[in-house]
Amino acid sequence: MKILFYAPEGRPEPWLSELQSHLPDAQLRVWHEGDQEPADYAVVWHPPLALLNHPGLKTVFNLGAGVDAILRHGEQLPAGLDIVRLDDAGMGDQMAEYVSWAVLGYFRRMPDFARQQQQAQWRFLKPNDKRQFPVGILGMGVLGQRIAASLSHFGFQVNGWSRSAKSVPGVTSFVGDEQLDAFLGASRALVCILPLTPATEGILNRANLEKLPAGSYVINVARGQHVDEDALLALVQNGHIAGATLDVFRTEPLPPGHPFWSEPRITVTPHIAAVTLRQVSLEQIAGKIRKLENGEPIAGLVDRTKGY
Ligand code: NAP
Ligand code: GLV
Repeated sequence: MKILFYAPEGRPEPWLSELQSHLPDAQLRVWHEGDQEPADYAVVWHPPLALLNHPGLKTVFNLGAGVDAILRHGEQLPAGLDIVRLDDAGMGDQMAEYVSWAVLGYFRRMPDFARQQQQAQWRFLKPNDKRQFPVGILGMGVLGQRIAASLSHFGFQVNGWSRSAKSVPGVTSFVGDEQLDAFLGASRALVCILPLTPATEGILNRANLEKLPAGSYVINVARGQHVDEDALLALVQNGHIAGATLDVFRTEPLPPGHPFWSEPRITVTPHIAAVTLRQVSLEQIAGKIRKLENGEPIAGLVDRTKGY
């Protein structure tokens, strides 16, 4: 079998040798513009359209959970091409760590204590009460459920929002557009871990952010396009939103001079909440390729009509 590899950044060699170790009989090569020799599979991150239209290609494996950079090609994608996303592959633990750190930091008033330290102030601050601190998670898929488990473990009351109802221990399930307002109104901290689709783009717009209780905290670990950045900044600066931890942005890298860099109530990280772990990800992809070669079903196939 022939497998193409494409990732716009980083050295391909360690990825190719790792994949080869799992699929010793496969012929692997880095894809370049103009390559026309047929191939069966591709392992990619942010692929150009030409690669997705490569002769013979049956299945493309995305080196991430979010497939928005593939589906953005829309109607130009070949109809019969299967798209497979990473299923956790070590991202769940990373997301749980990152979001728990952000929620706990705000809940335990660490930004206030950091400000006090700058002024050499030793002062008691009234702690937040967990009974009045429900956390809402937008997106209860592979990563959202792992985040929910971690927050529940710390004793937070967790609400989850998704398209279909979920039965997750310790989590109250809110479903669809009809229950979005109730969900937002009950979120003292809001976590966004939705896929980017036409239905979710801009979901954290001014109107929805204003539905959060005054003094809420926002954490976005999904995609920058979920957020109206001007609206979020204005609501942080007028105090309706107490602060935000943001890992993803409309433009990445976040441009120099962007107001988020200098807003003390906003914490910026460079899209690292959950990174693709080479070994576990390629082991997962190789396992799926072996299954496909044996005619067996695989998990993680993207439903193009849903957009994730
Ligand atoms: P997933 O398993 O596909 O889960 C998506 C969840 O969103 C599902 O619960 C789904 O509902 C819900 N959803 C989708 N559209 C919706 C809508 N219109 N209304 C209500 N709920 C909706 O995805 P995942 O693996 O958890 O990953 C989520 C996203 O995280 C990725 O797409 C990616 O963009 C982002 N991500 C970011 C990083 C980072 O480092 N910052 C790393 C990895 C992933 P149903 O369950 O009902 O289908
Ligand atoms: C990272 O952002 C991913 O989608 O895996």
